[in-house]
Amino acid sequence: MTIKVCVGSSCHLKGSYEVIEAFKEVLKKYDVEDLIELQASFCLGHCALGVTVGCEGMEAAEKGPQVEETPDGFILHSVNAGNVEELFAKEIYPKLFLN
Ligand code: FES
Repeated sequence: MTIKVCVGSSCHLKGSYEVIEAFKEVLKKYDVEDLIELQASFCLGHCALGVTVGCEGMEAAEKGPQVEETPDGFILHSVNAGNVEELFAKEIYPKLFLN
């Protein structure tokens, strides 16, 4: 399973670096660093809704205001350092143990 934080120019300006640091802390806190690979990614094509985070290899999430299904999993929109843990706990963590 992979979490890809967009570091394209638009998302970079909206705080990609802080989002990556927040994900590092959350993955450590939930003790799932061995289950999820955290990567930086080029533009994911949703610049107006950044910071954008691609979640691959996970069951597609329910559609919601910040969740968009993709063939590989789903994309989270409008991610910031302040909502990383909430989004992780709601949209990612429950799906880690489904397979
Ligand atoms: S710059 Fe992040 S989606 Fe385009």
